[in-house]
This record gives sequence, C-alpha cells and structure tokens, in this order.
Amino acid sequence: MSYVLLTGGAGYIGSHTALALLRAGEQVISFDNYSNSSPESLKRVEQLTGKSIIKIEGDVLDVEALAAVFAQYPVKAVVHFAGLKAVGESTQKPLWYYETNVGGTIKLCQVMAKFGVKNLVFSSSATVYGDAQNSPLPETTPTVAMNPYGQSKLMTEWVLQDLQHSDNSWNIAVLRYFNPVGADESGRIGEDPNGIPNNLMPFITQVAVGKRAELQIFGNDYPTVDGTGVRDYIHVTDLAAGHVAALQHLFTDPGFDSFNLGSGEGLSVLDIVTRFAAVNQVEVPYQFAARRPGDVARYFADPSKAKTLLNWQTEKTLDDIVRDSWNWQKNNPNGYN
Ligand code: WQD
Repeated sequence: MSYVLLTGGAGYIGSHTALALLRAGEQVISFDNYSNSSPESLKRVEQLTGKSIIKIEGDVLDVEALAAVFAQYPVKAVVHFAGLKAVGESTQKPLWYYETNVGGTIKLCQVMAKFGVKNLVFSSSATVYGDAQNSPLPETTPTVAMNPYGQSKLMTEWVLQDLQHSDNSWNIAVLRYFNPVGADESGRIGEDPNGIPNNLMPFITQVAVGKRAELQIFGNDYPTVDGTGVRDYIHVTDLAAGHVAALQHLFTDPGFDSFNLGSGEGLSVLDIVTRFAAVNQVEVPYQFAARRPGDVARYFADPSKAKTLLNWQTEKTLDDIVRDSWNWQKNNPNGYN
C-alpha cells in the first residue's frame, strides 16, 4: 500500500483532487496547516467516497513535521498545493510569499529526497505568462512575472527544473492552471475564500446569495468582444482530473514537463455573469467600474499538450460551471462554517 501525499489537501483544488484520487483507487494523505482551508472539506470528501483520508495538520515550512509523514507512511508521490495565492497581498508581504511558496517547496523537496520519494506534481499558474498578447498560449510562451505571487510560482518552476536536471531520477509535472471555478456536482465541497473574494466566481455567488450588494466589473473598455476581461475558466472537477492524469504521467513518461490546464476557450466577465443568472434563475446586480490594476485584457490556454501527453481535456461546460458554483454557494451560504 502506498500513498499520494497532498500538501494543502484541504484547500479548494486540493479537496477536489483528493476526491478524484480516492475515486481512482488511490490512498490519500493530506498535510495542511488550515491557514486558508478547513478540515471539514476532507470530512465531506470522506462522506462522498466512503473512504478515509489520513489528515495531518502541519506546515510545509516545518521540516520535522514533513519528515514525520514520510517516516510513518510509504509515499509514492506528492501533489504540492500548499501555498499563498492572493496577488494583492503578495505585493504587501513579498517575503512571506517567497518564504512560503518558494521556501516551502524547497523544504518539501529536501525531505522528499531524503526519503527517496522523487515524484512530484506542482501547482503553478498561467500567471507565469504575464501579459502575453498572443492567446491561445502554449507552454512555450515566454514566462514573466507581474507580481510577487507570480514571481514565486515562476521561481519555484525554475527550482524544480534545476532539481530535475541535477538528478534525473526526479519526475516532476508542473501544472499551469488557468482560472479554476466551479465545485463538485454534489454541492458538498467548493471554494470557501477568507473575507472578501478577490476572484470573480466567488464574488458572483456571494452577490447571488445576498451576502454582497453588487458585483463590480473591472473595466468595460478592453479590446475584447464586449469590453470586459476574457479568461479561460476551468471547472475544478476537470482540473482535479488533470492532476490524476499528471500523476500517472510521472510513472509512464518520467522526467520534467509543464502543462497548461485550461479549456482553450476565452470567456468574458459578461459571458459568465449573464450565463450564471440565466441558468440559475437568480439576479446578479452589477455595475461597471475602473479596470483593476495589473489585469490583462484577454488570455486563454492552448491545452493541446495536455491532451496529447496526458490524454486529458476539459469535459465540463460553462453551464456546468455556473450551475455547480451556485449549487455549492446556496447549500453552504457560509462555506464550511
Ligand atoms: C477574472 C476576471 C477581472 C473580480 C487571478 C490571479 C491569477 C490566478 C487566478 C491563482 C478579470 C474580473 C474579477 C471582480 C471583475 N491566481 N473581475 N470583478 O485575475 O484572471 O486571475 O486568479 O491563484 O494569478 O491573478 O482572476 O477571478 O480575479 O478575475 O470584474 O470582482 O474577472 O477583472 O477580468 P484573474 P479573477
């Protein structure tokens, strides 16, 4: 019996990946400090699957706590989600972001090496493409960071690439997520942001449920189809399936590789808001506001590499995304609390 260790396993993407891995027959350990997550998500994954997860409360900066996991359990691979992800906060607290995101990954890899576990899937972000103008973006698009959060993802990618080049017994898949949205179709697990949501979909769902008065749409004068920003929204269930596929790939096609996980389709803010309201038959009051500093007009993935090498592509539609996001929010108006 061997385990897949998820750092940050209780978070939004971690919990959906835990669900997908359990359903694929894997044994799962979650290592999470619950700084932006709740163990409740994992309890619900256990209820949904009828299987149990080994839940360890710990911080990736705590080398001894990490080492204790590897000492106790046979781990075959790690999916490393744990990290900080708020762009605005990263500009205020860059040292904390670099320490947690870059330093945390280095410590994790040191412990993994010590225990001879060299299979790793890493959560990166399409933010590494900066303000690239030529969507659809393949993985060969030049990378550039726009803020400390993005820089921390990019620096970690470099660290992992250098590590694998120094020792080719490492197998590493870097997954560059586009915009994760949606929730498991059960409505039992979903995104539960702290405080005022930074991201579009949780803001929309909180407006729809009456927790916030209206959505501000940041910019309606972009050079896009309707003037609002265009992004590649990926249902978190598809994203989770991408991790299962990437884990398999580590064993069948070893080495280092980066993959875009996106749908390949660009949707505008208005596309999302209007479809959300129509499918769910709820009002989403909004007004147009100034552009948000640092936002790019339009980007979306070229996901063909993941299709070819991981045999993975998105299956969910925009209607699935807006329905499942709403189902989660209306059943859990206060998230996991
Ligand atoms: C999407 C669109 C906004 C909120 C960010 C990070 C990125 C990644 C994912 C991961 C844009 C518009 C949003 C609102 C709005 N990080 N919007 N009103 O900015 O594409 O990506 O999250 O951890 O690194 O930058 O996602 O959901 O914030 O915005 O009009 O209240 O919605 O301008 O066009 P973004 P988002």
